[in-house]
Amino acid sequence: MRAVILISGRGSNMEALLRAGLPVEFAAVISNRPEAEGLAVAQGFGVATAVVDHRGHVDRASFDAALAAEIDRHEPDLVILAGFMRVLTEGFVRRYLGRMINIHPALLPSFPGLHTHRRALEAGVKVHGCTVHYVTPEVDVGPIIIQAAVPVLPDDDEAGLAGRVLAQEHRIYPQAVRWLAEGRLSMGEAGRVDLRAPREAMGPLVVPALDSA
Ligand code: GRF
Repeated sequence: MRAVILISGRGSNMEALLRAGLPVEFAAVISNRPEAEGLAVAQGFGVATAVVDHRGHVDRASFDAALAAEIDRHEPDLVILAGFMRVLTEGFVRRYLGRMINIHPALLPSFPGLHTHRRALEAGVKVHGCTVHYVTPEVDVGPIIIQAAVPVLPDDDEAGLAGRVLAQEHRIYPQAVRWLAEGRLSMGEAGRVDLRAPREAMGPLVVPALDSA
């Protein structure tokens, strides 16, 4: 499987993917920001990098066309959004439908959009987490592939909670890509995901834990 990773900044999820020993050829890492820290990290792994700067384009359609041209040059089977902070046009999303995935720092469908950790704290939820999903035209609502949950602790602040969630992002994104590379995952009907994987232990997740636990 050939994959292209799209980033906008730090690139820690990208790095987790590059480190995971996946049966994937990472053909390129593409950023919409020339100053994205992740570009140097990718180069350190010997992965080709490219920049398609959104600021050089008059509108979303023109940017997305340039981005698609750069992606298609690498002929990927999979497009991986890893902290890629641009809203994509419907035409772009449809071009890669069923072969483009994203990671979102919340348990979707709760908290789509930005500032998820702050909003989770404000809402008082006891469980927060992250989601890997297929990308569909509406932002942050595509079929869910895998999620990880973390407890929200009484003294949590935004940074602490974000760090705990990020550690789980770095576990579930490589798992999702491994399933895809092994041909065990596809986008099914009606927002469902078809995963041909052994049933893993699915214990109850209760936060705070029950007294009897
Ligand atoms: C992650 O929290 C990811 O879920 C979100 O943006 C952040 C990117 O972080 N989409 P990094 O660039 O992967 O370090």
